[in-house]
Amino acid sequence: KILILDFGSQVTQLIARRVREANVYCEIHPCDVSDDFVRGFGAKGVILSGSHMSAYEEATDKAPQAVFELGVPVLGICYGMQTMAQQLGGRVEPGKEREFGYAEVRAHGHTRLLGGVEDFRTIEGHGMLKVWMSHGDKVVEMPPGFKLMASTPSCPIAAMADEDRRFYAVQFHPEVTHTLQGPAILQRFVREICGAKPDWIMSDYIAEAVEKIRQQVGNEEVILGLSGGVDSSVAAALLHRAIGDQLTCVFVDHGLLRLNEAEMVMDMFARNMGVKVIHVDASAQFMGKLAGETDPEVKRKIIGKEFVEVFQSESGKLSNAKWLAQGTIYPDVVESGGAKSKKATTIKSHHNVGGLPDTLHLKLLEPLRELFKDEVRALGVALGLPHNMVYRHPFPGPGLGVRILGEVKKDYADLLRRADAIFIEELHKTVDENSGKTWYELTSQAFAVFLPVKSVGVMGDGRTYDYVVALRAVQTQDFMTAHWAHLPYDLLGRVSNRIINEVRGINRVVYDVSGKPPATIEWE
Ligand code: XMP
Repeated sequence: KILILDFGSQVTQLIARRVREANVYCEIHPCDVSDDFVRGFGAKGVILSGSHMSAYEEATDKAPQAVFELGVPVLGICYGMQTMAQQLGGRVEPGKEREFGYAEVRAHGHTRLLGGVEDFRTIEGHGMLKVWMSHGDKVVEMPPGFKLMASTPSCPIAAMADEDRRFYAVQFHPEVTHTLQGPAILQRFVREICGAKPDWIMSDYIAEAVEKIRQQVGNEEVILGLSGGVDSSVAAALLHRAIGDQLTCVFVDHGLLRLNEAEMVMDMFARNMGVKVIHVDASAQFMGKLAGETDPEVKRKIIGKEFVEVFQSESGKLSNAKWLAQGTIYPDVVESGGAKSKKATTIKSHHNVGGLPDTLHLKLLEPLRELFKDEVRALGVALGLPHNMVYRHPFPGPGLGVRILGEVKKDYADLLRRADAIFIEELHKTVDENSGKTWYELTSQAFAVFLPVKSVGVMGDGRTYDYVVALRAVQTQDFMTAHWAHLPYDLLGRVSNRIINEVRGINRVVYDVSGKPPATIEWE
């Protein structure tokens, strides 16, 4: 296994992710663990992370000296490189400017780490890497025994290596996606240089996670807000595997879910898996509170507040519960960790079903905290959740409440649910010939939106005067920006025909061709 020592960088988890992608087991521990811990860990190799400290705040953390005496390979990244240099007799100086962002580094010589790894060659024939840099200080003198491994004009010692002792260090960040060869570099370090076996798989992760949850929770009871979304579902399945009946899920139906969603959730968890689920049908209550309200932000606030109240009153009945479990995943952790600008204006006040206040006085349990979305999905599949539930498009906490423009009414929700289900069904059924994938797989999120305006139509010999539904389908990596999906015309035509024929009350279907920005994905 690989030991990753964390000096507090925002992206330390990404190192772990890349190592896991190479199917090598690793653990992250704080940089100030003891020498004894390091000696007893049994690492095949050690990675020293970057640090969040800027050049202006003095970062003084050091790696335990034992790291350099284990006789195993060590890789220092960014601050990890600097502390390695300093601790082994080199010299670090504050840089005049902070270097941040894209850079091209030239790889020198054929070290085992970078030899043959390159993105392009210069006219002179130098191998070059496209990388991501973020640092203020830099190494100005290498420790004895080290040779230069890479350089840039502004950072002459951008990477260094002592191949005899198998110590490697890079000033750039191989763990972030902007460093194109990053996965190859980290894989080479852990597999070839450290000789770690690529035998880490999801089933091992489950065994470990189960053990950790059992130790943490003991014989106490846990509550989880189950929404039917991927994260809370996978968290429920994992917790159920670990602690069985000590877990109780609370599933709040606010009347703004998709067609048959409540039945599906109850079937899967309560009936098939035997999870204890309290199904709260609060739809009448939510509809009552939303009556007459047309402002999108007010609607969101009402739904969020009501949700918390219902959840609190239900969980209050479980007097033995000591833990509140949430399906927080790693990107949520990073987002709330101050990565977002404080000055950003509120476009939408997101309400997440997981985001409950701490007035519940429960201890927080977040078993998915270290995982990325695709890892959560792989975990879900490994835990036996059905593929189509694990690979479902995201669904917002306020549900159809933000997809019915203006005032929310039960009749509108019922029409919208049926139109939406037809759209989704056709996306699942239609295969793109070029890729062999369904259009559901080719889109990141797709849904119908209810427009409370009426237009004139003709059906048979009669005049109709009915509502309009808009279809929305987008492709995106991160949901921060998105393109509208170029769905085939015949697919759109089929969906339109079916909705108008099958859903009485809707006589017109339009397709949304707006990107984000300037539009957003949801209409409210
Ligand atoms: P927008 O509409 O802001 O949506 O482009 C970006 C992504 O976020 C989802 N979304 C929400 N998710 N609570 C959620 O849990 C919310 O209040 C919320 N509002 C938007 C949206 O579905 C899309 O995936």
